[in-house]
Amino acid sequence: MTEELQKKAALVTGASSGIGEAAVRALRADGWTVFAVARRAERLAALERDTGAVAIPADIAEDDDVSRLLAQVTGAGGIDTLINIAGGARGADKVGDATTEDWEWMYRVNVLGTMKLTRAFLPMLRATGEGTVLNLTSTAGLEAYEGGGGYNAAKFGQHALTNALRLEEADHNVRVIEVAPGLVQTEEFALNRLGDAQAAGKVYQGVEKPLTAEDVADVVRYAVTLPHHVNLDQIVIRPVAQAGTHKLIRKS
Ligand SMILES: NC(=O)c1ccc[n+]([C@@H]2O[C@H](COP(=O)([O-])OP(=O)(O)OC[C@H]3O[C@@H](n4cnc5c(N)ncnc54)[C@H](OP(=O)(O)O)[C@@H]3O)[C@@H](O)[C@H]2O)c1
Repeated sequence: MTEELQKKAALVTGASSGIGEAAVRALRADGWTVFAVARRAERLAALERDTGAVAIPADIAEDDDVSRLLAQVTGAGGIDTLINIAGGARGADKVGDATTEDWEWMYRVNVLGTMKLTRAFLPMLRATGEGTVLNLTSTAGLEAYEGGGGYNAAKFGQHALTNALRLEEADHNVRVIEVAPGLVQTEEFALNRLGDAQAAGKVYQGVEKPLTAEDVADVVRYAVTLPHHVNLDQIVIRPVAQAGTHKLIRKS
């Protein structure tokens, strides 16, 4: 199996929008082979036409989809790098008012989705001799905030999974990187979380320069391109205007 597996070949989840899409573009610009994964097929097809990435529509938390994905990627030469970006938040309720469906959605995609993809692809990553897993968590996975409980719980969970994985896989020479961004202005994240454009707009209101998807994608590309023995365990990236979770400078 080892000779057959491609190097500089990545599977990127969350590729239909925001940070995942930007990561696909950044890696393709550097000549990587990229498999682009998300649920919305038409958006992936456009990205495929634009970049030459291979689009594979799939729900990362569905076992059948993950099996199909593994078979397709194996048939297309395999990967040495798995980049788990798919995820997100639903709602901003306090714990006392929590909506069970929102909490289940967040746990399912951020934690179980990351676990299922990683579990499926680990044998392949080990077989390359120099595998990499990069998990896109959040500063919400490092520090809780009011109204963040469900997203905090999911991202803390994904962060913990990442730390355990690094300890477990070092013996297989698989490096495990965590990228934890603060405020990133993407088209859909806050909209999906809060449900309407006005509420979503307020998240970024008056913040002169929030991070962009491209800022984070650049860091992802850098981390997975370093010589393989260099493991950036955890990268926290925030805009200057956000010196901490509870300190966000708004000019208006
Ligand atoms: N924006 C921020 O401020 C921020 C800050 C820190 C961390 N993050 C994290 O960064 C990641 C990307 O966020 P973003 O801002 O780029 O958000 P986004 O634009 O909403 O992107 C989320 C991506 O995840 C995919 N996705 C969701 N559920 C999926 C599922 N079950 N199976 C496959 N794909 C799924 C979505 O595609 P489909 O809908 O087509 O499936 C989409 O491509 C998330 O993990 C988020 O938690 C975001």
